[in-house]
Amino acid sequence: MVSVLIPAAGNGERLGLGPKAFLRVGGKTLLEWAVDAFREAAEVLVALPPGAPVPKGLRATFLEGGRSRQESVSRLLEAASLPLVLVHDVARPFVSQRLVGRVLEATRATGAAVPVLPLPDTLIRPEGEGYGEVVPREALRLVQTPQGFFTALLREAHAYARKRGLSATDDAQLVRALGYPVALVEGERAAFKITYPEDLPLAEALARVWNA
Ligand code: CTP
Ligand code: MG
Repeated sequence: MVSVLIPAAGNGERLGLGPKAFLRVGGKTLLEWAVDAFREAAEVLVALPPGAPVPKGLRATFLEGGRSRQESVSRLLEAASLPLVLVHDVARPFVSQRLVGRVLEATRATGAAVPVLPLPDTLIRPEGEGYGEVVPREALRLVQTPQGFFTALLREAHAYARKRGLSATDDAQLVRALGYPVALVEGERAAFKITYPEDLPLAEALARVWNA
C-alpha cells in the first residue's frame, strides 16, 4: 500500500515559465502527467505553491507546499496514511510503469530505494575558465525520482534533518544522514527532470511517442 507524494510547489525559476506543475507538455500539465503515472496508487498527495489554484478533476489530495522541496515533502509526509511512500518530482513527467515497479520492489525489500544512471559525458572540475582535472565518472551516478521509502523511516529522516538543520535536494540524502543505507535501482533517461528552457522541446518530442 503506497502513498505517492508529489512535491509540486516549486516556482520553476530556471525554466522561467512559472510553477512547473501547471506547465503544459503534449497537451497535459506536468501535474497531470505525474498523477497519470501513478494511477494505480492507493493515495496521491500533491504539494502546490501557496496560493495556487487547486486543479479540478485530478484524483489527488492537495496541500500547500513549503519554502523548499524538503519542506514540501515534510508536509506531504505528515499527511501520508500508508506504510510505503514514493516521492516523485512533478518536473519529471515521463515515468514508466517498469521504473515504478523496480523502485517499489527494492523499497519493499530494503526500506529505501532510488533510481540512478551512469553519466554519459566526461566530467571535469574546471580550473578558472579552462579545462581542469577529470573526475572519474565510472564512480558516479545521477539520481532520479521516484524514490521509495518505508514511511516511518522517511519521517524519522525528515525529523532528524529538521533537528540538525540539514537541507537536501532529495530524500535519500536524509535517510543516509540518519545512517540507513539506500538501495540503487536502474533509472531511465526518459525520467529526466525538465529544468532548463532547452529541455522543453525534448519533452514535447518525447510526449508524442510516450506510451508508458
Ligand atoms: N519543489 C517543491 N517545493 C519547493 C521547491 C521545489 O515542492 N519549495 C518541487 C518542485 O515543484 C519540483 C522539485 O521539488 O518538483 C524540484 O525540482 P526543480 O527542478 O528544482 O523545480 P523548481 O524548484 O520548481 O525549479 P527551480 O529550482 O528552477 O526554481
Ligand atoms: Mg528547485
